[in-house]
Amino acid sequence: MNKQRPIMRAIMLTALMMIPVLLIAAPSPTGKPGSIERGRYVVKIAGCNDCHTPAYAMRDGRVPEHDWLTGDGTGWNGPWGTTYASNLRLKLAALSEAQWLHLARTVQYRPPMPWFNLRAMSDGDLRAVYRYVRHLGPAGVPAPAYVPPGGAVATAVVRFPEPPPAQ
Ligand code: HEC
Repeated sequence: MNKQRPIMRAIMLTALMMIPVLLIAAPSPTGKPGSIERGRYVVKIAGCNDCHTPAYAMRDGRVPEHDWLTGDGTGWNGPWGTTYASNLRLKLAALSEAQWLHLARTVQYRPPMPWFNLRAMSDGDLRAVYRYVRHLGPAGVPAPAYVPPGGAVATAVVRFPEPPPAQ
């Protein structure tokens, strides 16, 4: 009767066979805005681990995820004094998501914290970072306290030169 039926059947069969392929396709590594997956991706590529995770950069990023963002005891020493990359697992556990968004948009931290990069993030990415860090949960101990210029420093430090004159 209808000559097109076998063709239609073949097309439909192919389409049905595609469904499992589509279902098992790996989710995008960048994740959806606001998702935990996205937060993991942003934390990784925005370099938060490089300073906030102990030895992360020196071990080529091979640090178990449960230790990520637990803060670091190496001091960053320069004209601003000595700063320590905070324990973000404890910090974010104490903040609501709204407080985190407000903080990230308004606070200016001392060097070498790139606070200006936080301000440049979209709300979706900031929310994702928050949800990811909360998903990891609180862990570790607070990083050493900030030491003003000239104060006694009890830890190893990375020394920064004077910054070049402003342009
Ligand atoms: C180059 C090193 C470096 C990088 C990269 C970095 N931070 Fe920091 N961060 C610091 C240091 C050092 C401090 C402490 C600054 C101070 O004492 O004022 C800090 C402080 C903070 C604080 C304040 C915490 C508190 O206890 O009040 C937040 C929040 C923060 N960083 C988030 C981030 C996030 C999110 C990223 C990734 C987008 C990031 N940082 C990347 C070094 C870094």
